[in-house]
Amino acid sequence: MEFIKVTEQYQPGIALIQLNRPKELNALNKQLMEEVRDALQAFDKNDQVRVIIITGNEQAFAAGADIKQMADKSAIDMLLIDQFSTWDQIRKTKKPIIAAVSGFALGGGCEFAMTCDMIIASESAKFGQPEIKIGTIPGAGGTQRLTKAVGKAKAMELILTGRFLSAEEAHFYGLVNKVVPVEMYLHEAVELAKEIARMSPVAVQLAKEAINRSFETQLDEGLAFERKNFYLTFASEDQKEGMNAFVEKRKPEFKGR
Ligand code: HXC
Repeated sequence: MEFIKVTEQYQPGIALIQLNRPKELNALNKQLMEEVRDALQAFDKNDQVRVIIITGNEQAFAAGADIKQMADKSAIDMLLIDQFSTWDQIRKTKKPIIAAVSGFALGGGCEFAMTCDMIIASESAKFGQPEIKIGTIPGAGGTQRLTKAVGKAKAMELILTGRFLSAEEAHFYGLVNKVVPVEMYLHEAVELAKEIARMSPVAVQLAKEAINRSFETQLDEGLAFERKNFYLTFASEDQKEGMNAFVEKRKPEFKGR
């Protein structure tokens, strides 16, 4: 791995991916995204991993797709490079992903954070889709995910002006889960990950899948999907263990089966 650092057991059950192109503010080139995809696919298959955290450094989560790599490309070059198939694979990760964001999360960097399931931000985090300032528009889901997260009016403002959203504003608009001092953002992400890692991994996976369905379907279809996943949890040992532990007034021991 050239552009990311991977720690399989950063804490028990919690894997960490650190984007590692600090001189370029973690600009997301094709290889970096492929390395992230490979790490996520390996974690999905690894029973020892329950939750994944993706982070950058204090200065930047990621300042966008690599402009230098794209600048002279034609539309057909971009089509054939097909970078978004890697993003689609990342989106299909079954385990929960928390983005721990400090500094710039711009363009593809903001889209990457929004592709994760939750965002913990440091007070210095700045979110934005500044593509308009370089003559293009978001291409990795920004017009869709930002709009769903912050509403049409704010998304229009941010995407049409390229303005940045401070961490506080991002929290106000529901884009991020929590804002903490800079020295705490990774710690806070780990605390959230630990809490999720204590739950049944089967139930966590089925819940994530059902929540994501709400972005892709009408209510009727989404409810039917949720119901099937709800019934499916009753085929797991973890559901029996969880409910029996409640009745017996003890802590459950989930096995992921
Ligand atoms: C390539 C980048 C980069 C990027 C920063 N760098 N962002 N290289 N692609 N997206 C490089 C700079 O060229 C510079 O390297 C080094 O990182 C430090 O950046 P500076 O600009 O000197 O830092 P600063 O003055 O602090 O300004 C920070 C910044 C600015 C405001 C974040 O770098 C900036 O505006 N970056 C571009 C943000 C952006 O437009 N993102 C959207 C990209 S398009 P050198 O070697 O020159 O010193 C996009 C489309 C997504 O993301 C769709 C598909 C995924």
